[in-house]
Amino acid sequence: MFRDIRCAVVGSINMDLILNTDRLPAEGESLPGNSYGYACGGKGANQATGLARLGAQTAMIGMVGDDANGHKLIENLKNNGIDTSNVSLQGSQSGLATILLEKGGKNRIIVFEGANAEIDPDIAADCITDDLDLLLVQFETREEVVTKTVNRAIEKGITTVVDCGPAKSFPLEKIQGITIISPNESETKELTGIYPEDEKSMLTASQILLERSSAKYVVLKLGDRGCSVYDGKDITLCPPYPADVVDTTAAGDSFTAAMALEFKRSGDIYSACDMGNKAGSIAVSRMGADASMPTAKEILNISR
Ligand code: RIB
Repeated sequence: MFRDIRCAVVGSINMDLILNTDRLPAEGESLPGNSYGYACGGKGANQATGLARLGAQTAMIGMVGDDANGHKLIENLKNNGIDTSNVSLQGSQSGLATILLEKGGKNRIIVFEGANAEIDPDIAADCITDDLDLLLVQFETREEVVTKTVNRAIEKGITTVVDCGPAKSFPLEKIQGITIISPNESETKELTGIYPEDEKSMLTASQILLERSSAKYVVLKLGDRGCSVYDGKDITLCPPYPADVVDTTAAGDSFTAAMALEFKRSGDIYSACDMGNKAGSIAVSRMGADASMPTAKEILNISR
């Protein structure tokens, strides 16, 4: 279904340390953990895995440290069928995310960016080649890495999807002309000052995002409320699929990968968002970050 689509992801590659707990601690509180484990993650790597699991030709552009985690992270990308020839193994330390995971699936994440902060923006931009169909970026690398790679892709007419995670202020005016901009609720609040709690606030926030980035579409990820699409005229709500939530980590990454790929295939933003919602509902029902990304077959089996 997606095998002819050539994708690149510019972004972070992290080792995730996941600590399971009954509930998240309050300030100054120390709580017992139930168990812990390591898993491969990073917003960029998760999205690359999401694309590859759906069957697309996927290349990752990023950096890990020349340490034990760095070697494992590259191996994991390769095992998922991802081209790692533009992942350099020369950062000081690999990125590390500490994820506190509460029963019921909510989390709090602290990220040590490590090698992700050492990606050279010009080298990354030179990896954006004419043969690409789709570029995905997030905000877990340095600002210039995002602006230079996105602008190179725009120059080349490549469909460009910007996932605004993690929440931070970002000069969207420097990536004018992207195809889709897609923040979640807290990222929307950070970028626009507006929390998308109802249709009116979704519309106002989307208008601001579209104006600042000149994106063709604004897709707000709304967690268990699904997502909204703004096309410059109307706001449309796309309902979620039911899920038994165990871990929300990387749910947004799986949504972005599936939504972007289906948009590239069909050109239909509404069927793209429906596919994103399906992918997200599968991802939250599984533990882990990149490990929770669904295949195309799993997505096609989902119904309400
Ligand atoms: O989006 C989830 C990801 O955010 C985790 O895998 C973690 O590495 C952090 O970057």
